[in-house]
Amino acid sequence: MEVTVDIYRYDQETGAARFDRFVKEVDPKDRVLDVMMDIKDYDDGTIAFRKSCGHGVCGSDAMQINGINRLACQTLIQDLKSRSIRIEPLKGMKVLRDLIVDMDPFFTGLERIKPYFIPKESAPVTERRQSIAERALFDDTTKCIMCGACTSSCPSFWTNDAYVGPAAFVKAHRFIMDSRDGGNDQRLEALDDKDGLWRCHSIFNCTDACPRDIQITKAIGELKRYTVVHR
Ligand code: F3S
Repeated sequence: MEVTVDIYRYDQETGAARFDRFVKEVDPKDRVLDVMMDIKDYDDGTIAFRKSCGHGVCGSDAMQINGINRLACQTLIQDLKSRSIRIEPLKGMKVLRDLIVDMDPFFTGLERIKPYFIPKESAPVTERRQSIAERALFDDTTKCIMCGACTSSCPSFWTNDAYVGPAAFVKAHRFIMDSRDGGNDQRLEALDDKDGLWRCHSIFNCTDACPRDIQITKAIGELKRYTVVHR
């Protein structure tokens, strides 16, 4: 089948933005990333976008595809149900070039909640034991690949990039709900801050945008309750 692909182009040096159009013959089961690689290899090698694993694990190729945040490597042409494909950078982040955005505000929010295991106790002789029920509390939020699709879909982030953001909240949830972790007091500082949890107005865009189907708004609600009880 034939599709029309419009790709956003941006040159930071001149400040000029435009869409370039390509008409391609594709298989409906091709992924958007396949088509983009084909365009880069055979039509225009100057198009800039991020991608790494190409299999939905690294989170590098999150972008707007027909107006919705998705991973290019996980989006099949047939699932778009359209012969017109419009590809744009993630919203709410400064564009550096074409589809490449500045992820610094995203990672600053992430750093604030200390996205790593802080042990509650010194290392035991064997493993740190945990019951199945304790593990289940944060099972969903372990799935995050930090693609940024959630944070860049959030209107609170669009108006204030100091907002810690849903991706950081997902990471915070993953560790705060972990019975073996002891870093919650430090994380609460960022969560209970003016740019923290209370800027979330339960808009749900983040949940809709997550390519891993993480129930992000639900996790944020659990963090809000935790923060009120433990502040
Ligand atoms: Fe934003 Fe998600 Fe909350 S879209 S306002 S972080 S529910």
